[in-house]
Amino acid sequence: MSDTMKKAGHSRYRVARRLLIFWTVFIGLGAVAGAAMMLIDPSGRIMGMDAMLPYFQVLPFADVLFQDLFFSGMALLIVNGLTNLTAAVLLLKNKPLGVTLGGLFGVTLMLWICIQFYMFPPNFMSTIYFIFGLAQAATGYAARVFAGQEAFSVREADYPHVGENPRELVVYFSRLGYGKKLAYEAADRTGAEIYEIRATERTEGTLGFWWCGRFAMHRWDMPIEPISIDLEKYDKVTICAPIWDFSLAAPVRAFCRQAAGRIKKADYILVHHTGGVYENAAREMDGLLGIRHTGLVSVRNRVGKFRVVRSDGPAGV
Ligand SMILES: Cc1cc2nc3c(=O)[nH]c(=O)nc-3n(C[C@H](O)[C@H](O)[C@H](O)COP(=O)(O)O)c2cc1C
Repeated sequence: MSDTMKKAGHSRYRVARRLLIFWTVFIGLGAVAGAAMMLIDPSGRIMGMDAMLPYFQVLPFADVLFQDLFFSGMALLIVNGLTNLTAAVLLLKNKPLGVTLGGLFGVTLMLWICIQFYMFPPNFMSTIYFIFGLAQAATGYAARVFAGQEAFSVREADYPHVGENPRELVVYFSRLGYGKKLAYEAADRTGAEIYEIRATERTEGTLGFWWCGRFAMHRWDMPIEPISIDLEKYDKVTICAPIWDFSLAAPVRAFCRQAAGRIKKADYILVHHTGGVYENAAREMDGLLGIRHTGLVSVRNRVGKFRVVRSDGPAGV
C-alpha cells in the first residue's frame, strides 16, 4: 500500500474488488441459470422461452443454429456464465487476472446485449443488463487503477544523495506519491534538500479526491501547514507540482503565494495524467512567486508509468 493509503487505513482496491466479485457472481449465476433452462428444454415451451425464437431468425445461420434454444444456451453458458464464475473464483483467490477478466467480461456482456438490441424491440431487461455490463467494466477498471495506486510506494532510503547540497531545495506536494517520486529523484540527482507541502484539508482516498476537485474547480488555494523552512537561504528551488483540473494543484498554489519574494530562482516539475505540457501552471507559479522559471519538466504519469512530455532548462531529466 502507498504511504497515503496506509495513512488513510482504507483500501479502495479492496472495495472495488468486492464489488467486482458481486458483479461476476451475479451475472455468472444468472447466466448459468438461464442457460440451464435453455439446455434442459431446448424447445423453450416449458418456460415460455419459445416466444423469443422468431426474433433469433435475423441472426446469421439462424436456420441451423437458432431453430431451438440449444446453441443460445451453450453460448450463454460459455460467454457470460462460466467466464464470470471463473473470474469470481480468481477474484476470491485475490489473483490479479481476476480483476482483468472481471472487467473484460463486463465488456463482453455489453457486446452480448448489443446483439439483443439488434434482435429484440426495445425492452427493459436488455437495457438494464447493458447498464450492469457497463458498471461491471467500470468496476474492473477502477479495481485495476486502485491496485496500481496502492502498490506504488516511494522508499526515501533509495535516494541516498538527498540533502547533501544545502544550496538547493526540492519542494513537492503529492497525494498518491507520484510527485514525491519525481521530487526525490530530482533531489537525489543534485543532492538538494527536500521539503513536503502538507495540506491541512482532506486529500486522501475517494472523499479526498472529490474535495481536492472542489478546490481545483474553483482555482482556490488549499490551506497548508505553515512553511517551516528558510526559503531565502537556497540558491535554487525546484517545485514539483501535480496538475489538478488542468491547472496548478491547490496546495502548491497556496505555497507559491506564501513563498512570494522568498525564492531567488526556480525550476518546475509538473506531473499529470494526460499528455499536455501545462505551461499555464508554470506561468501561474511564476506570477505568484514573482520570478521567471529557469527550467520546466512536464511528466505524464499513468499509475506509476512515467513519460517525460517536455524537458527544458536545468531541471531537465
Ligand atoms: C482533483 C484532481 C484533479 C486532477 N486533474 C487532472 C487534470 O486536469 N489533468 C491531468 O492530466 N491529471 C489530473 N489529475 C491527475 C494528477 O495530476 C496525477 O494523478 C498526478 O500524477 C498526481 O500526482 P501525486 O500522486 O503526486 O499527487 C488530477 C488529480 C486530482 C486529484
